[in-house]
Amino acid sequence: MIKLDRRKFLLGSAATLAAGSSASALPASKLAQRHQGYGAAATLWDLQADPRLGEAISTYCTQVVPVLELKWPMLRPDAHTFAFERADAIYDFAQKNDLTMRGHTLAWYHDIPDWTKQIKDSKAVERAYVDHISTVVSYYKDKLTSWDVVNEPIPDNPRDVKDRRDTFWTQHLGSSWIPLAFRTAAAADPYVKLAINEYDIESAKDSFIAKRAAYRNLIMELLDQGVPLHAVGLQSHLHAELEIDTHGLAEFVTEIRSWGLEVYVTELDVNDEKLTGSPTERDAIVAKRVNDLLTAIWTSGPVRSILSWGISDRYSWINGYVKRPDKQPNRPLPLDGEFKPKPLMDVISKFTKDV
Ligand code: XIL
Repeated sequence: MIKLDRRKFLLGSAATLAAGSSASALPASKLAQRHQGYGAAATLWDLQADPRLGEAISTYCTQVVPVLELKWPMLRPDAHTFAFERADAIYDFAQKNDLTMRGHTLAWYHDIPDWTKQIKDSKAVERAYVDHISTVVSYYKDKLTSWDVVNEPIPDNPRDVKDRRDTFWTQHLGSSWIPLAFRTAAAADPYVKLAINEYDIESAKDSFIAKRAAYRNLIMELLDQGVPLHAVGLQSHLHAELEIDTHGLAEFVTEIRSWGLEVYVTELDVNDEKLTGSPTERDAIVAKRVNDLLTAIWTSGPVRSILSWGISDRYSWINGYVKRPDKQPNRPLPLDGEFKPKPLMDVISKFTKDV
């Protein structure tokens, strides 16, 4: 493992890539307007290109999470380098704006750099995996509130509750890749909350119900093995045409909490590609889906962390991935493309008032 000079990294980052505006504490009146526990994901590119984005996050949010900057490809250009500068710049932005920051993500089937995938020897893969998690979590020790340690471990359409996603990590480390990631992270920072994170478990479709059951089973197995897992992330990349499975989701969340775990909403947005109708009609359905989601989760208590994957439709990943048949932009987030609040922001406001 290469030696890191923590102080050098911190000074270097502060000097070069700050994305925030002023370096002072914000006025109390501004802080009081924020939706407690609400946060948004952002890339450094977007923060630097458009000051309205940072302004919106600092107006509505109490936390932020980097979209790309803590993933392997951006942190690890090669086997010997840890390039923390871009993530540090988002951390600087958070500090300057009195926001907390989450970490996303340490172990994922996706976004593994080519140099890593070219390692053929399983022992060497394990060394690279442990080195990465240990170095990155140590570097941000005492700075982040929580980490998405393992992201998306369940396949779509699982065959049964034991089904797990086949990943580069499983090919080399078998099922131990998940406990190993959590144990390594906990050893590097004993206080940060460690989360597992999954998508497509919120609706009533059969494949979602199956995925939720497999997720539940995995969480139970990890707890049985004494794995240091503290929180369960519901990504909540919702599909506007699908109803929320309010009953099933409420039951799932209640059970997870009865095991002593926290529940976070980690990547909220609502893809409206299958909705017809005017923007106003679409926005109303989008807001209703999130209202149903949060109502279901709230049956067993409030959620202290709700993050959307972006804050303005202008900077949503969905517009880069899917195109509506009518060529209109998707409207998945709480603010529109001009940073005006939509009904979805009212829903978030309602659920984050007294948390
Ligand atoms: C997405 C980013 O938003 C995209 O810009 C990138 O190209 C791919 O990753 N689930 C996750 C996030 O956990 O990391 C993904 O982010 C969106 C789905």
